[in-house]
Amino acid sequence: MKSFLSIQDCTSQELLELLDLSMGLKKLYQSGKRDLCLTGKTLAMLFEKTSLRTRVSFQVAMQDLGGNAIYLKPEDIGIIGQREPAKDMARVFSRYVSGIMARTFKHETIIELDRWATVPVINALSDWSHPCQAMADIQTAMEHFGQLKGLKLAYIGDGNNVARSLAFACAKLDMQFVIAAPAGYELDQETLDTANQISPGCAMQIRNPMDAVRDADVLYTDTWVSMGQEAEKEQRIRDFQGYQINDALLAAAPKRAKVMHCLPAYRGYEITDSVCESAQSVIFDEAENRLHFQRALLKKLIGK
Ligand code: CP
Ligand code: NVA
Repeated sequence: MKSFLSIQDCTSQELLELLDLSMGLKKLYQSGKRDLCLTGKTLAMLFEKTSLRTRVSFQVAMQDLGGNAIYLKPEDIGIIGQREPAKDMARVFSRYVSGIMARTFKHETIIELDRWATVPVINALSDWSHPCQAMADIQTAMEHFGQLKGLKLAYIGDGNNVARSLAFACAKLDMQFVIAAPAGYELDQETLDTANQISPGCAMQIRNPMDAVRDADVLYTDTWVSMGQEAEKEQRIRDFQGYQINDALLAAAPKRAKVMHCLPAYRGYEITDSVCESAQSVIFDEAENRLHFQRALLKKLIGK
């Protein structure tokens, strides 16, 4: 494993090992001990878009492991490739740092960085996927249910980057994935076909959120308006009516179900405040697990 660009590229074994390492490091750090495997290593963090969780959790993860992180904010780098080609940036960074983490608009930018970088590249969200988020979510499910096999994740809302990474994660880890999206915002057929090739029958797309949640273990949603789609906001708010995780939808799910959201959450749109604050919500566990999962990822990729 040189880099971490998409869950689709990893084997089930690699993902399970990362989860195992993440839970081990979580225990270690909770007991007050440290693993300084990244002493002397530096991570460059390239952001074309804003961030709270990703930026802070990666920076803390590097510091926790004895290393350093350099934050390059959107104003510093602009769109990768505009001032200088991604292939030049990748080779320059490779002379200075031990790893590159990038949050980009185009997924191809991350692929291009990885093609030319001689150090590991981590996808910290592209328009196509958000693998670190999905793995932190899967870890959260594992911790709450004790196992992953057979768990059903019902995703309500936009067939976006987060939905796609969750579909791949479910396929790789023996879980069921169902998405209920409004017309025009479905998850693409290629993603569903790929998930179903990995694990036959694991991924399904339907229209009605009530049908999706009836026997679900996890109810998941994300913003209706992803970064870069701000101009479509009004139209999207109209089109997504009926796709909110609210008390009525939660009541239609089994009592054991947990509610997840990658955050930031737009209360009153894709999710209500009462659901975010309910006893079934595990949204802050997911946010915390970003740190633990990324520590494991950094140790595996850079800590050699
Ligand atoms: N969930 C997530 O990636 O949050 P940020 O955009 O704040 O990093
Ligand atoms: N789908 C959202 C996720 C934010 C963490 C976006 O891309 O903006």
